[in-house]
Amino acid sequence: MKSALRRVPLARPYLDEREEELVLEVLRSGRLSLGPTIDLFEELIAERVGAPYAVAVSSGTAGLHLLVRTAGIGGGDEVITTPLSFAATANCFLHEGATPVFADVDPRTWNLDPPAVEAAITDRTKAVIAVDIFGYPCELDALIALCERHGLALIEDSAEALGAEYKGRSIGSHGPPGVFGFYPNKQLATGEGGVVTTHSEEQREQLVSLRNQGRSYSGGSWFDHVRLGFNYRWTDIQAAVGIAQLEKLDELLELRSAAAERYNALLGEIDGVELAPADDEDHKRSWFVYVVRLAPEIDRSRVMAEMRERGVDVAEYMPCIHLLTYMREQFGFAEGLCPVAEEISSHTLALPFFPGIDADDQEYVVEVLREVLA
Ligand SMILES: Cc1ncc(COP(=O)(O)O)c(C=O)c1O
Repeated sequence: MKSALRRVPLARPYLDEREEELVLEVLRSGRLSLGPTIDLFEELIAERVGAPYAVAVSSGTAGLHLLVRTAGIGGGDEVITTPLSFAATANCFLHEGATPVFADVDPRTWNLDPPAVEAAITDRTKAVIAVDIFGYPCELDALIALCERHGLALIEDSAEALGAEYKGRSIGSHGPPGVFGFYPNKQLATGEGGVVTTHSEEQREQLVSLRNQGRSYSGGSWFDHVRLGFNYRWTDIQAAVGIAQLEKLDELLELRSAAAERYNALLGEIDGVELAPADDEDHKRSWFVYVVRLAPEIDRSRVMAEMRERGVDVAEYMPCIHLLTYMREQFGFAEGLCPVAEEISSHTLALPFFPGIDADDQEYVVEVLREVLA
């Protein structure tokens, strides 16, 4: 029997001396922003995901906002997206005055269901923002085809999916522009930060200008602002952490996937606990959070409270966006709009999960879950 005082956090970044060494180099170089470390990170990550261009920004949210800008999305436009995601997926276009339209998810993949997206298209639809939720790739081919058919922009929110593969190729390499995020719980953790990947040189030039106050891309003077932009710059200090993380990304992904397999085996025999969608020929998950789905009769709030009391940090990944307070207030969304997503989201539970989590701690988490459910 393990001590009740044991504490298992929900997430923890995996850092070592290499991050310290590269950060120290940047600090000593005096180039803290707009420096060569960011350029190098961009080159390396573009190569890693198989996209011709990468533009580093201050957060995943900032990257999404810039993609919304470059797609020309604005007031009066509708953007179709998934309810089963993080608020930033929708906030990025709300800031531009566009209207959210939530299409339901596929019960098997938990990602946008292409026929539901197609059914939600109107004369005002301008774009689709698809998400690779919990690192599981969305239905890219179907979404690309339907967006082409209807003349819509497609943006991929891959904030949670660095390292995932769709039909044998990395997310980021398939054509649509996308965003990866580097918050500390992510596969690649730099504190804050994100990167936009694009296959268009023109879009890359716009992104580079927009993230830096709309300055001229083609190297005008420091005060040559050619468009309305933002300060969404990243720092070279964060890029140094990013390079160190990229160097060991395969190891980080391997550790995550080994931890997920350990949970899968431990949880296999617990009644009322269903595992997240499994990989298949077309979809290879990059493990971001470890989420299980509890049977509908289980009181998730009680389970969470009791697990936390016993030192196991858990979370309700994740509430549907359309049911968040500000969404209900601004747009009048309510339960019943996206029944599949609502049903998934009201029963999912994230367990402690990060590269290097102790096998012992995982056993403890599962033991606590089993006892709490009994
Ligand atoms: C699906 C999704 N989109 C967007 C974001 C926003 O990324 P950031 O926190 O880097 O702004 C996140 C971050 O958690 C996310 O999970």
